[in-house]
Amino acid sequence: MRSTHLAYCRSELDDGEIAAVEDALRAGWLTSGPQVTAFEAAFAARARIAHAVALNSCTAALHVALAAFDVGPGDEVVMPSLTFAAGAQCAMELGARPVFADVDPQTLSVTRDTIAAVTTRRTKAIVTMPYAGRPLGIAEIAAFARERSIRVLEDAAHGCGMLDDGTWAGTHSDAAAYSFYATKNLTTAEGGMLLTRDAALAERARRLALHGMSKDAWRRYEAGGTWRYDVSEPGFKYNMPDPLAALGVAGLARLDARQTRRAELAARYGERITAIRGLRLPAPPARTADRHAWCMYAVLVDERELRISRDELIDALAARKIGTSVHYIPTHRFTAYRGLERAPLPNTEQLAASVVSLPLYPAMQDRDVDDVLDALEFIALPRVHAVG
Ligand SMILES: Cc1ncc(COP(=O)(O)O)c(C=O)c1O
Repeated sequence: MRSTHLAYCRSELDDGEIAAVEDALRAGWLTSGPQVTAFEAAFAARARIAHAVALNSCTAALHVALAAFDVGPGDEVVMPSLTFAAGAQCAMELGARPVFADVDPQTLSVTRDTIAAVTTRRTKAIVTMPYAGRPLGIAEIAAFARERSIRVLEDAAHGCGMLDDGTWAGTHSDAAAYSFYATKNLTTAEGGMLLTRDAALAERARRLALHGMSKDAWRRYEAGGTWRYDVSEPGFKYNMPDPLAALGVAGLARLDARQTRRAELAARYGERITAIRGLRLPAPPARTADRHAWCMYAVLVDERELRISRDELIDALAARKIGTSVHYIPTHRFTAYRGLERAPLPNTEQLAASVVSLPLYPAMQDRDVDDVLDALEFIALPRVHAVG
């Protein structure tokens, strides 16, 4: 057994990233400025999507995008319940109703069919979420939405480094909201990015993210700038500060190497987990040009075969010094959303009771993965003796 606790997640920055933040802190400009512009340009270039708007969270990106779609009272926004509650929160803040679509039991993501089952004439937008960064086939969902004049927003919180049939999230949809939260594949400690091909949408989102102002501080105070600005509509305060954008620029240059490491660790898990009776893995990506982002490593517990519940497995792993997490407690189960009218979500309910996330981050050593696997095999073993 391990002598030290293996944390579920841990961020590790290299000296170059720390130096980039330090330089930005010493530059004499701290709020959104040249580093934000550089980060937006670099991110848009990597994604091959024309417009990138840096924000202080993915939640902010979801909020401004839905607001820029003119989502409001009387509208419905279709989304999974097996996700983080940010999407439902944003829809409700705008006066719209979140409508939960069930997820596929193999991919843990919504599909065209589960979305179609809850789409009505009031559906204004669909928010998809590729679970763990496994591409969900967005083109089919985007085509379904386009035929009905419904907007599609990808919650790409897990999607940095993912390729859906060769493309970044935001290519086929109206927009994608990325997260740079501390646990994500690319981090700015806290942060987000809205990516879109739509220039008008980007322009409105950028304005909404800064109180609805026509001009940010950098453009007012730089040489030749003017103090005059207008506020064209009430907005929010969601802009990204420059030192965090500097971390984003430096991190983006390291994204590929870190993705390679995530994929190696995931492959190492997969080799042995598939042999453990009572554990099942979500489906791998479906298309040859798909690339999994491996933002998380989810495993599904078959309680009857493993002879212990998911919660007992989490406790048993904790006793063996392995940290885990659960993604997700479905949104519809939370006090704030329990009252929402909804159709049954059988797959969501079943998955929520059986899913567990194992540690997966580039700073992990092969030995750490082996420790998790040893622990899982040990926990599964008494069942073999009990049956056999
Ligand atoms: C699926 C999903 N959506 C949205 C968010 C919100 O991201 P942020 O913390 O950047 O607002 C998260 C955060 O973990 C997430 O996992």
